[in-house]
Amino acid sequence: MEILIIKIIGALIILFLLKILFISLFFYRDIKAAQKRDPAARSFLEIILLYQGLHALISHRVAHFLYRIHFFLLARLISQISRFITGIEIHPGAKIGKRFFIDHGMGVVIGETAIIGDDVLLYQGVTLGGTGLEKGKRHPTLGNNVVVGTGAKVLGNITIGDNSYIGANAVVIKDVPPNSTVVGVPGRITKQEGKKIDVSLDHIHILDPIMQNIEELEKRIDKLEKR
Ligand SMILES: CC(C)(COP(=O)(O)OP(=O)(O)OC[C@H]1O[C@@H](n2cnc3c(N)ncnc32)[C@H](O)[C@@H]1OP(=O)(O)O)[C@@H](O)C(=O)NCCC(=O)NCCS
Repeated sequence: MEILIIKIIGALIILFLLKILFISLFFYRDIKAAQKRDPAARSFLEIILLYQGLHALISHRVAHFLYRIHFFLLARLISQISRFITGIEIHPGAKIGKRFFIDHGMGVVIGETAIIGDDVLLYQGVTLGGTGLEKGKRHPTLGNNVVVGTGAKVLGNITIGDNSYIGANAVVIKDVPPNSTVVGVPGRITKQEGKKIDVSLDHIHILDPIMQNIEELEKRIDKLEKR
């Protein structure tokens, strides 16, 4: 009996080590990306064992493969189990590029027709969702090297250009050109190609006239206070 227990424990340890080896080999680039993007990440092993973002990505790679070969129910089951364990819901249909990293993770939702480029970083609470009950391509496309801040919602079949930043808690419902920073609700571009945009002159991206009025008033109050 004792020998049997020792054998079972031994087998479990070997399985565990094999699992770590398998993850390190097949997800090396994603683990490296997590290490690069999260200053709190101390070691490879810490990321493999404890990072929900990595676990959700591994499950998604399996679920997406099953989805592509039309095993839709099984794919969805894996995605839901992963959601239960990690708090991150990625629909198996979503296409995700290389070196993808979700930091902290909890509350992230990625829709079925979302497309994510390479080197993308999402923080907790991000939604890449649809705007209603439309069918077909209804979720966003994120370019390469995009960062989406915590709590941000990117909604509809829109494109976020390469190297863009979506600020924390922004709600983005229109295309964003490459190399831009978007903040606020609804999202407005505050920086493009490294240069600050004067919101009062940016007639294309202004979506909220009330916000514009508040900004004008703030400027006037600033001027008066400086007198
Ligand atoms: C938007 C962001 C990327 C900063 O970009 P930046 O180009 O460096 O922006 P700045 O700090 O120069 O700020 C530009 C303007 O946007 C405002 N701003 C910055 N972030 C904002 C946000 N999330 N929501 C609303 N306004 C914001 C600033 O107050 C500033 O306004 P001003 O021009 O009137 O002074 C950053 O603020 C952000 O939100 N990052 C997300 C990080 C995150 O989610 N971390 C979670 C870790 S757990």
